[in-house]
This record gives sequence, structure tokens and C-alpha cells, in this order.
Amino acid sequence: MEKQKIDILLGLQWGDEGKGKIVDVVTPKYDVVARFQGGPNAGHSLEFNGIRHVLHIIPSGIFHKEKTNIIGNGVVIDPITFEEEIDALKNLGLTPTDNLFISKKAHLILPTHRLLDAAYESQKGDKKIGSTLKGIGPTYTDKTARTGLRVCDLISPNFAEKYSQAITQHLKILDGLGFDYKTALPELEYKWRASLDTLKSFTFIDSEYEMYDYLQSGKSVLAEGAQGTMLDLEFGAYPFVTSSNTIAAGAFTGLGLDPHLAGKVIGIVKAYCTRVGSGPFPTELFDATGEQLRKQGNEYGATTGRPRRCGWLDLVALKYALMINGVTDIALTKADVMDNFETINICTAYKVNGELTTRMPTETDAIIEPVYTPLKGWMQNISSCKTYDELPQTFKDYIRFIEEETHVKVSIVSVGPDRDATIFRD
Ligand code: GDP
Ligand code: IMO
Ligand code: MG
Repeated sequence: MEKQKIDILLGLQWGDEGKGKIVDVVTPKYDVVARFQGGPNAGHSLEFNGIRHVLHIIPSGIFHKEKTNIIGNGVVIDPITFEEEIDALKNLGLTPTDNLFISKKAHLILPTHRLLDAAYESQKGDKKIGSTLKGIGPTYTDKTARTGLRVCDLISPNFAEKYSQAITQHLKILDGLGFDYKTALPELEYKWRASLDTLKSFTFIDSEYEMYDYLQSGKSVLAEGAQGTMLDLEFGAYPFVTSSNTIAAGAFTGLGLDPHLAGKVIGIVKAYCTRVGSGPFPTELFDATGEQLRKQGNEYGATTGRPRRCGWLDLVALKYALMINGVTDIALTKADVMDNFETINICTAYKVNGELTTRMPTETDAIIEPVYTPLKGWMQNISSCKTYDELPQTFKDYIRFIEEETHVKVSIVSVGPDRDATIFRD
């Protein structure tokens, strides 16, 4: 049996590119779908039979009952959110304990991590990151500080001691910050403890061994990323980033994979850009066009409901993301949102502090002025197109422009939120 390669699917912008939808659509091609980083800050939507589903921690392959889903060691799990997601799936008649397995090494979001997130954000005042306040930063902080609790601790005889040590430490920090947790904590802790039974009803695995065995035995694996490259801890606009490695390299540490087994890297690209939370966003639109993108694209957060900041497609940022991730295939989503746009701008360069460049500046205080290439809109409904040939020539010209600029093939074109609104090029 020939060893399989592992394909990686991730967001190339600031998150919410449509990863959940595309994972769901391509899952039939794979045996296993594995999430490698992030946690309940993610909101991955997918739609079929007229119903929209939103997943936060659970991989987006879960609706395909015969496929295995893995939550990898790089993910941080909040048992409360996990239980809510599992309950929703059970209500739909699914039995997730049959096809969802969890790494013993994944870290746990404790009740106090959420409070710490809120406390740190409130300290920052107008410099706040705009965190989803799900406890992501503080949980990864404990992981790197080597004070975190992992899934395997839940079944350890020392669990109570480890839990109380961590909480005591967190309360000292909260006291130091003068953050009032006395009202919120008891209920949060109660809910957290009550949700553990659901988490413990799942099989905990050493996901690195499982991955190795799957690939050795010829099974195909898709690694699902969360957030996007511009939110990566190293390569995003630090500090306006999330606390994990959202890039392709994160799949290897987040699942324990042999890097020689890298296969395709499928980068999800929204036809325009959005961002939730604070931080640089060079092509952001503050005018009626921005509002039109938000309205027509229904750009409101799947996790927090916050309105997303909207702007034109940014090829400077995209080329950076393609380079770092070694993207082999682009999946282009949401172009249908611009069906009635006469002109579509694409940013092809920046003026940084007055100087023309096609490189991303590291300094977050750089003054960036986008340089646009205007393209003709297709002024036609593309969401009912089923094949590439059916798409209007102007839209194909727009895709060719992106391909010529990036040197990467647009292999998948998504023209609506539903599973069926997807066109494969080959
Ligand atoms: P993710 O976090 O990358 O999985 O993306 P989200 O689910 O947060 O946001 C993407 C949103 O766009 C969801 O509401 C999807 O249902 C929707 N969506 C995905 N692809 C398309 C598309 O091609 N066209 C339209 N109109 N909506 C899409
Ligand atoms: P998906 O997987 C969009 C953003 C937050 C904030 C920053 C840090 O659905 O694409 P955090 O909660 O991680 O401390 O927030 O990152 N953010 C996302 N933005 N989509 C996401 O996930 C995001 N997850 C985090 O808005 O700016
Ligand atoms: Mg999302």
C-alpha cells in the first residue's frame, strides 16, 4: 500500500473565507478530516438542504457520517462549547462519538481563561485586539508557559489538584488586574464541570500515531485550518493576531505529521476581504461599497455576530500568504456577492509611507495606501452556474487576472453558500 499524502486546507486572508463550506464539499474525497489549531474563536459555516450549520471546534467533515474526524493536539477545547456543538449534532440525528476522536494532547480552555481574555482586553483600552473572548490567548499562553491542562488530564487521578492549581494562579492574576470575577465565575465553573461528561464520552487518542497509521495504510487525510494567514501568530500583523499558527506549517505541529507527506495545500480566498476585530486592513472600505459588500455578503461573524470590516481583494497580502503556505490550489469564494458591481478593484501594490512596494510591511503603524487595478464586473447572476463553461467571460477574465498575478490555479469556484453551489475546474 502506497503511503498517502496529507492535503491541507486553510484561509489565506483574515478568516471567514468560507473554509467550512469547502471542507464539507471536498470531504467525500478523503477518509479523515483533522482540525489542527484554533478553538471556539472559529466559526465555520456550511449549508445543505436549506439549513446552515456553524461549527467551532468540530471539524467540518462531521456531516459525512462515514468519515473520521479528528481534533488534533494543536486545538484548544472549551468543554462548554464542545457540548453545545455535540448536542446540536445529536439533535440532527448524528452520533458524533462514532466518528469523532480527540487528541489527548489538546489543551483545555478553563473557565478562568475566558475571564482572563476579558481582563486583558479591557486593560488594552483602545489598543484592544478585538478578541472573540473565548479564552484562546490565555489558554495558549498557559500551554507555552507549561502550566496548561490537557485532555489527558481529565482522566488523570491528579485532575482536581491540577485544575485547582491553575485556577488559583489565574485568580491571583485577575485580582492583580482588579478584574471582578466574583459574579461570573461560579456559574461558569458549574457549566464547565457539568459539560465534562460529554467530552469524556469521546475516545481520546494519540493523534500523531493515528495520523501515521492512516497515511501508512493508504488512507487520505485533509487537515482543516481555522482563522487565516493574516491572523497567524508569527506572520499576521502582530499583535492583532490570534495565538496559534494558522499557516500550513501549523498542520505539522498541530497534528504531529511527517513534513515529507505534504500533499496539496488548498488556500481559501474570498473574492473581497473582510476582517473582524482590530488591526491593519489596507483595502478596507468605509463607504457605500463597503456597506454593500457587508450587506450582500451577509458579513456578520459566525461566532460573535459582529459586523465584519469589508474591503477589496488584496493581492499583496494574498501573494504573501501563498508564499508562506506553499499553496497549490486556490478555492475562490463569494464572488457572487459582487454580481451587481460594475467595477471591481483589486489591490496590486501598496504605497508604504509613500514608497511603492509589493511586500507586506512588518510594522503595524506603517501608513499603507493601496494601489488598485480596476476590473470590469460581470453584472450577471453567477450563483446558478453549475460548470466553469457556464460562467460569464468577464468573470473568467477576472479569474485569469488572479491566476496570472499569483501563478496559482483557481481550482474551485464557490458561487453560493450551499454545498451544491460549487464548481470544480477539472
Ligand atoms: P469560515 O470561517 O472560513 O468557515 O467562513 P464563515 O463560515 O465564518 O463565513 C463564510 C460565510 O460565507 C458563511 O456564511 C458561508 O455560508 C458563506 N459562504 C461560503 N461560500 C460562499 C459563496 O461562495 N457565496 C456566498 N454568497 N456565501 C458563501
Ligand atoms: P474562522 O476560523 C475571523 C480574530 C478576532 C480577533 C483576533 C484574535 O471562523 O475564520 P482571538 O479570539 O483568537 O483571541 O481573536 O482574531 N479571529 C477571527 N476572525 N475568523 C476567525 O475564525 C477568527 N478567529 C479569531 O476577531 O481580531
Ligand atoms: Mg468563520
